[in-house]
Amino acid sequence: MKAVVYTQYGPPEVLQLVDVEKPTPRDDQVLIRVHATTVAATEIPMRRGKGLDFRIVIGLRRPRERYRVLGMELAGEIESLGKEVTRFKKGDQVYGFTGFGLGGYAEYCRMPEKGSLAIKPANVTYEEAAAVVDGATTALFFLNKGRIRSGQEVLINGASGSIGAYAVQLAKYFGADVTGVCGTANLELVRSLGADGVIDYTVEDFTESGRTYDIIFDTVGKSSLSRCKGSLKKGGRYLLTVGWGSYLVMLWTSLVGDKKLIAGMSIKKTDELVFLRELIEAGHLRPVIDRHFRLEEIVEAHRYVEAGHKKGNVVITVG
Ligand SMILES: NC(=O)c1ccc[n+]([C@@H]2O[C@H](COP(=O)([O-])OP(=O)(O)OC[C@H]3O[C@@H](n4cnc5c(N)ncnc54)[C@H](OP(=O)(O)O)[C@@H]3O)[C@@H](O)[C@H]2O)c1
Repeated sequence: MKAVVYTQYGPPEVLQLVDVEKPTPRDDQVLIRVHATTVAATEIPMRRGKGLDFRIVIGLRRPRERYRVLGMELAGEIESLGKEVTRFKKGDQVYGFTGFGLGGYAEYCRMPEKGSLAIKPANVTYEEAAAVVDGATTALFFLNKGRIRSGQEVLINGASGSIGAYAVQLAKYFGADVTGVCGTANLELVRSLGADGVIDYTVEDFTESGRTYDIIFDTVGKSSLSRCKGSLKKGGRYLLTVGWGSYLVMLWTSLVGDKKLIAGMSIKKTDELVFLRELIEAGHLRPVIDRHFRLEEIVEAHRYVEAGHKKGNVVITVG
């Protein structure tokens, strides 16, 4: 089968489309014929080998054999099953998150049936389904941790990114009054996702407006709790998706003060994928796709995502 493999860390050109052996599912695994995957923001530092955390997992000097095919999000069809599999059958159309299992940049990928995998929403394409997986489940994970409630005032920083675009829609679904912070070119997009208000970060610093929020969700790590404290209501929560240092601040704010920082990593996503399927099929959430590329264009796709300005998601069509 065709797969995009990287054997050394570096620029997008380290990604090479080659022929590799088609995997065989183990007893508790399914084999998925991948129709679509994505280039997620997290895969950029993985490819570059940037950060000790990634190197410890993926390989200190170069990516270990089992991590050489990137691709954390996928949608496709179940091609075959291990003999212990009961949740899925051949031909099921699924979407899922491989996480550090990776392997989505390939024509076939195997996943444990108990992994973050679910039947995909019936009313969207494979490309649209793949584009929902990590961004929307992560947005849901953080909004739940922030105990979002109807009537709250919520600010989403990075509202035009993958997590942000879904956070805006989900916060609206939960009945919040939502302000989205994004760049000039994305104001219309964020409004179209349902935001009640938008702030252009290139002309206004939301921490200086004097307005306060129940939840500030920084999806892209471009602010800090210390800067945002004055913009949080009493008992407010600051949700942050990035940075190991945030765990120490979370510990500190859990002991001291009434404004809490909440960090975390959304890893197990099956329940969220099932919930999101219902939301999408009911028309409450829509996939947000910026650009489509083919697997053969993976270098270009990585270059585009690495620039840091994608709107929602960048999808790769496989096959
Ligand atoms: N904790 C977790 O479980 C978890 C899970 C998934 C991802 N992550 C991490 O979360 C981060 C965000 O992921 P993502 O996929 O949402 O990112 P993304 O889609 O790559 O974010 C790109 C967006 O960020 C916006 N942006 C850039 N600078 C900004 C600024 N100063 N203020 C406001 N918006 C700005 C850009 O808008 P403009 O073009 O207008 O600048 C662009 O639309 C990544 O670092 C990723 O690794 C964490």
